[in-house]
Amino acid sequence: MISNTVSIDIQKVGNSRVNEIDFENLPFGREFSDHMFVMDYADGKWGTPKIIPFGNIQIHPATSALHYGQSIFEGMKAYRNKENEAFLFRPDMNIKRMNISCQRMCMPEIPEEIFMEALKTLVSIDKQWIPDTEGGSLYIRPFMFATDEYVGIKPSDNYRFMIFTCPVGGYYSTPVKVKLERHYTRAARGGVGQAKTAGNYAASLYPAKLAQQQGYHQLLWTDGLSHEYIEESGTMNVCFMINGKLITPSEDSDTILKGITKRSVIEIAKSWGVEVEERPVKVAEVIDAIENGSLTEMFGAGTAATIAHIEILGVEGRDYVLPAIEGREFSNKVNDYLTNLKKGKIEDPFNWNIKL
Ligand code: PLP
Ligand code: COI
Repeated sequence: MISNTVSIDIQKVGNSRVNEIDFENLPFGREFSDHMFVMDYADGKWGTPKIIPFGNIQIHPATSALHYGQSIFEGMKAYRNKENEAFLFRPDMNIKRMNISCQRMCMPEIPEEIFMEALKTLVSIDKQWIPDTEGGSLYIRPFMFATDEYVGIKPSDNYRFMIFTCPVGGYYSTPVKVKLERHYTRAARGGVGQAKTAGNYAASLYPAKLAQQQGYHQLLWTDGLSHEYIEESGTMNVCFMINGKLITPSEDSDTILKGITKRSVIEIAKSWGVEVEERPVKVAEVIDAIENGSLTEMFGAGTAATIAHIEILGVEGRDYVLPAIEGREFSNKVNDYLTNLKKGKIEDPFNWNIKL
C-alpha cells in the first residue's frame, strides 16, 4: 500500500479468523486480530515496514530485551460505530509518548509518519475486528524491544518495532477497589516512571499481588521519597472531585505516566467550565476530604481502564467507602461524552479522532 511517503509491504491472511470471535463476550487482551505490523532497526536505520499475518516470532536466547529490559510499549484504541465508520483516538499523542520512552531507554525513535501510516493501515485491514458493541473497542499495542544477540550490557544496536491489535471489552468490569501503597515504590525521581517501559510493570507485580490477595484490584501509588503524595494507579492516572474542583497529581516530576485519557478529561473539564487543579496531592488531603464529605468522586483514567470509578480506597487497613457511583455527576458525564466522541457519535470539537 502506498501513501505519499510511506510504503508498507503487505501480506494478507488467506482466511480471516474474525468469524470465530464472540464479540459480545470479550476478555481483555486474549484475542488477537489477523495481522500485525513489523519493522526492524539495524545498521543505524529502520528497514522495510511490513504487515504480515499475526503469529509467533522467533528470537535468539541472548536477545538483550529479555535480559536487560530495553522494551517499551504503548496502548491505544480504535472504535467502530454501527455505520461501520472506524476511528483512532488521539494516535498522535501515543506516537509522541512512545518516542519519549525511546529517548529515555536509549532506543531509536520511530519516524512519526511511518508510525501513523502503520496504525492506519493495520487497523483499516483488520477493521472488521473492531467491535461495534457497547463497551467494545480494538486495543492497539505498539511495542519495541532490543534484539542484539549479546550478553554484555549496552544499548542494543538492533531493535524490532511491532504493532498487534486485540478486540476487547472493558478492563475492569466493576467499580475499582484500590489500596494506597506506602511501602513499595513504582517510580523514583530520576528513574523511568515517565517512560512506558516493561520494567515499571514488572516491578509493580509483587506489591499489586499483595493488594489483590487482600481483595483490592489495584494499587494507588505514592511518591517514592516521602510516600505522602499520591501519584497514579497501576494501569491508570487518578482524578478527584473535591469541592467541585477536578484535582489530579501534576506530572512535573518524572515519576508519573503522562496519560492521554487524563489529559483528555482535563481538556474536556476546562471546556465545560470545571475548575481544574494539577498539583501535588497529599494523601492527608484526600482522607480529610473523604471524611468531611467534600470528596464527591474519585476515578481512574486510562486507555484500557477508560473512566474507572473508584469505590473503595484502602489506607493502612481501613477501607474508605466513597460516594455512590450513580451520584457522580462529572465522571459519569465525562465517561459518556468520551465514549460517544471516540465512536464518532457526537461532534469532535477537539479534533481528536482520526477517521479511517
Ligand atoms: N498510568 C499507567 C501506569 C498506565 O499504564 C496507563 C495506561 O496506559 C496510564 C497511566 C494511563 O495512560 P493513557 O490514558 O495514556 O492510557
Ligand atoms: C493501557 O491502558 O494501554 C495500559 O497500558 C494499561 C495496561 C493494559 C498495561
